[in-house]
Amino acid sequence: MKKFACVALAATLTAQVAAAATTVDNAAIANEKDGANWLSYGRTYSEQRFSPLADINAQNVGNLGVAWYMDLPEHKSLLSTPLVVDGVMYFTGSFAKVIAVDTRTGKELWTYDPKVIDAAGDRGRVMWDSNRGVAYWKGKVFVATGDGRLNAIDAATGQEVWSVMTVDPKLAYFINGAPRVFNGKVIIGNGGTEWGGLRGYVTAYDTETGKQAWRFYTVPGNPADGFEDDAQAMAAKTWTGEWWKHGGGGTVWNGLTYDPAFNRIYIGTGNGSPWNQKIRSPGGGDNLFLCSVVALDADTGKYVWHYQTVPGETWDYNSNMDMVLADLTIDGKPVKAMMHAPKNGFFYVIDRATGKLISAEKIGRATWATHVDMKTGRPVEAPNARYEDGEELVYPGPLGFHNWHAMSFSPMTGLTYIPTHDLPALFTDKGIKPTSWQSPSFQFDPGVDLGREDMPLTIDASVLMAWDPVKKEKVWEQKLPGAWNGGTLATAGNLVFQGRTDGKLVAYRSTDGVPLWMFDMGVGISAPPITYAVDGKQYVALLAGWGGAAASMVGSITAQHGWTYGVHPRRLVVFALDAETKLPKAPPPTFAQPLAQDDFKVDDLLAEQGSFLFQRNCSSCHGGGAVAGGYAPDLRASQAPLYPEAFKEIVIDGSRRQQGMPQFKELSDADLNAIHHYIRRQARKATAAAQSGK
Ligand code: HEC
Repeated sequence: MKKFACVALAATLTAQVAAAATTVDNAAIANEKDGANWLSYGRTYSEQRFSPLADINAQNVGNLGVAWYMDLPEHKSLLSTPLVVDGVMYFTGSFAKVIAVDTRTGKELWTYDPKVIDAAGDRGRVMWDSNRGVAYWKGKVFVATGDGRLNAIDAATGQEVWSVMTVDPKLAYFINGAPRVFNGKVIIGNGGTEWGGLRGYVTAYDTETGKQAWRFYTVPGNPADGFEDDAQAMAAKTWTGEWWKHGGGGTVWNGLTYDPAFNRIYIGTGNGSPWNQKIRSPGGGDNLFLCSVVALDADTGKYVWHYQTVPGETWDYNSNMDMVLADLTIDGKPVKAMMHAPKNGFFYVIDRATGKLISAEKIGRATWATHVDMKTGRPVEAPNARYEDGEELVYPGPLGFHNWHAMSFSPMTGLTYIPTHDLPALFTDKGIKPTSWQSPSFQFDPGVDLGREDMPLTIDASVLMAWDPVKKEKVWEQKLPGAWNGGTLATAGNLVFQGRTDGKLVAYRSTDGVPLWMFDMGVGISAPPITYAVDGKQYVALLAGWGGAAASMVGSITAQHGWTYGVHPRRLVVFALDAETKLPKAPPPTFAQPLAQDDFKVDDLLAEQGSFLFQRNCSSCHGGGAVAGGYAPDLRASQAPLYPEAFKEIVIDGSRRQQGMPQFKELSDADLNAIHHYIRRQARKATAAAQSGK
């Protein structure tokens, strides 16, 4: 029966090409039937990432080839979901640069550069270059910048129309998420809780003027200052101790969904600041609205309802992942449902009318909780999951079972297609004194130790999963080549597209997961594919450019693919049926060659100090255990640390700031020396392992 539907749709949708110029407003972004345009981050307000286009389909996808491409050599991480408005594509590259391209000619129309590095100052060290995309509304493009601005750009000319600073620049806030637009308002949140004590919030601005319309805080401030609204007073009852001194957390760095059916905006809220609840809220408590889906009135920002996925979170299990809207039939009744797969390994279906939980199923390895009690809607936690004894190996780790790589939902198959990561973490807080711990200031410290060693490859078992949200069962899964694969696109052509860490873009048959087509992009993929149509012809487009948190932090799990910094191409690639453009050949996977420097004597004590400094200051870009995943150079293979003057010039004097290597004015020569001893120790470990054949 499902196959029938595919054929029928395929026949009718070819003709769906926007004839007149599209006015991008609520009606346009809500229009699921317009397959020609891709007007919002999740394609439409539903965030389904499902396209009704079916000219490219399970029968002919084998004939898909490169129609055209654009080299993007100035860019590094490419994570964004391009938008397409009447044949013009808008996407973000590194450091929130926005590029507009005429898809008919493949020519750049304009580039807008918000000069993020100059604006960021010290915050350059807490933000990455990555940006997940723009929003579009009535001739304006909106981009949020790493340093915390929200900027409006004229879509025709690329000129800035207005710019507002959305955060306190003295704090470690940064933005790499995509804004959303509705009712003439543009909304944005922020992130950064691992680098400073932050309080989360979202702000809506007028699309014409940039004037603030409303702001909603996700955690309460100091009660002595009075609460901004009733929701804060309610939330404050679920906190203990002096949480406000650490900010509390709850930053909204990714998931935002506008719901036209109820005129509400849903925000997916972040983890605690710090992660460790023993520090943040020492007497326990649910800590609202951490790790929650919160529904707000879109016009006023007033609280409507919430559902908390992780009460009293202590593992970085945020709920920042996408919130997908669909009409589902559950127990014979139609439900306006929200689907949500946060980091914690469960899949939630929520009734949007009331916020009531419909189902919560474990979809992956999640050892922190046995199940969700449907009477209370609360997870039932496993013994010692909160590392009560000071240490516990827990699945999933902070990368989550599902992260920001968006899932898609096909109303034709009724399935969600979820990119998952199956990685644990050893949480240790032995030796951390909750009462004397201080929030960091532009250094990585979540209040719990995750170990400073590299992650072994053997632990990874990530899959692409097709999950039936109504039957609550897995329909198929396909093994993925390592963690941190891209988000998915589902189409009426019975296809699911996904870009992978190993550089392959793959099309699967959406009903049963059979891989039908594969293309080698020559570099790891972090961005999700999109599809659109111009002059009656369907295209699939994808940005190829390795990046994001795992590419920068995780070590061997991501380094295994050989996307060494600066070696492989960065591109926009557009595919069509029977197209035969050849991509220039990319260099093969390339692996860092650590320099052992056998004549250098490593001092163990210094190396240990260096390990601590590296973890706090460098590992977020140069990799856990000093094994770089491709976001920045592998320092074990770099000559620079061998020469104290050169090392100092780069790290303390900031000579490579414009290339994304931040300045660390407060580090001393002695600190750098310790870091060097650590880097050498790590390099020796690698060369010794290579020699012993491990
Ligand atoms: C926000 C990300 C980030 C952080 C944090 C960071 N780096 Fe870098 N670093 C980079 C990038 C990106 C480059 C490459 C710059 C370029 O292309 O020249 C780099 C380059 C370097 C280089 C030059 C390597 C070479 O062979 O060219 C050294 C040395 C270095 N970093 C040391 C450090 C140290 C030490 C720390 C911690 C104190 C640190 N970095 C923290 C991003 C970062």
